[in-house]
Amino acid sequence: MEPKLIAPGDVKRVGVVGGGVIGIGWVLHYLRMGFDVTAYDPMPEARVRIQSMVDDTWPLMVDLGLRPGASRDRLTIVSTLSDAVCNADVVQEAVPEVPEMKTKVFAEMDKFAPSHAVLLTSTSGISMTVIQSESEHPERMVVGHPFNPPYLVPLVEILGGARTAPAAVEWAREFYSLNEKDPIVLEREVPAFIASRLQEAMWREALHMIAEGEATVEQIDISVRQGPGLRWAITGPMMNFHLAGGPGGMAHVLDHFGPTLTEPWTRLVAPELTDELRQRVIDGCDREAAGRSVADLVAERDRCLVAIMRARDAIQIPNAGKAPGSASGVPA
Ligand SMILES: NC(=O)c1ccc[n+]([C@@H]2O[C@H](COP(=O)([O-])OP(=O)(O)OC[C@H]3O[C@@H](n4cnc5c(N)ncnc54)[C@H](O)[C@@H]3O)[C@@H](O)[C@H]2O)c1
Repeated sequence: MEPKLIAPGDVKRVGVVGGGVIGIGWVLHYLRMGFDVTAYDPMPEARVRIQSMVDDTWPLMVDLGLRPGASRDRLTIVSTLSDAVCNADVVQEAVPEVPEMKTKVFAEMDKFAPSHAVLLTSTSGISMTVIQSESEHPERMVVGHPFNPPYLVPLVEILGGARTAPAAVEWAREFYSLNEKDPIVLEREVPAFIASRLQEAMWREALHMIAEGEATVEQIDISVRQGPGLRWAITGPMMNFHLAGGPGGMAHVLDHFGPTLTEPWTRLVAPELTDELRQRVIDGCDREAAGRSVADLVAERDRCLVAIMRARDAIQIPNAGKAPGSASGVPA
């Protein structure tokens, strides 16, 4: 059934269900965006935790820039789930990552939220088809998966379940875009979505290496902070390899390093590098490059790399990006 939803630009009130790490992060983001926010968490200590985190982090929100009318006084912490959602135009759920719990919480949110409200889950990988399975109005339920902390990291992964209306998915895309997020919409359900799968792959390999005594925790963190992590923030992993191929770009990288995909360089099972896959990857890089040469992209990447390293040094995060004994700092 086609849901009758409020226009994304007309949202005034946001309900947040779950007041842990991610729920509080969303509270801060939505307060900064100028909404009235109503938050609910059943734990007795949650009220104090939510309020003190909001108070402590508010100066950063002010520094980032508040939308007109935004105020931390527009937060109401309530004692029941129905109070959190009954006047909400949109609800962002952030309860623990347990399928049965999410399914139950969504059925309850569905019962009390106005019919024009979209219900969003922060799940890191549970299928929306499962989460909406016991609800009467599954068509308005969408995954809106953030990255921690949601008040700073722009990415939100969006997708529906088998019974979600396409209009609700589009609604979520527009809503997040209007509110300083950088959403990507997945065309089909895949466990753990896109970014979590990538994180998971590295996480599993890191744990393998630590378990086997091949690398320490510190070596793994330094290897990413001082190595590919610096570049990933600018190019993403695919464009990074495109640049690693010199003038031949991704085509050269695939021809050069393609055979090593079958070497035991990771515990993950390698995909078969078919002609079709090869071409798809090359085409994707060409689209991203949008006419820019590898040299142009390298120049852009390098300017950004230096800027990021200077910014990091200026912030002076303890040990960030500095291998023990290494030279510190990038000239200003
Ligand atoms: N932590 C992350 O980095 C991260 C990133 C992206 C997405 N997520 C997802 O966000 C969701 C929340 O994760 P988190 O890290 O904030 O967990 P958390 O454990 O910090 O917080 C969960 C909160 O939900 C509360 N809760 C329990 N039952 C509830 C109920 N019935 N109604 C309302 N609140 C209830 C708990 O008291 C707790 O405060 C999960 O689905 C997780 O996968 C987490």
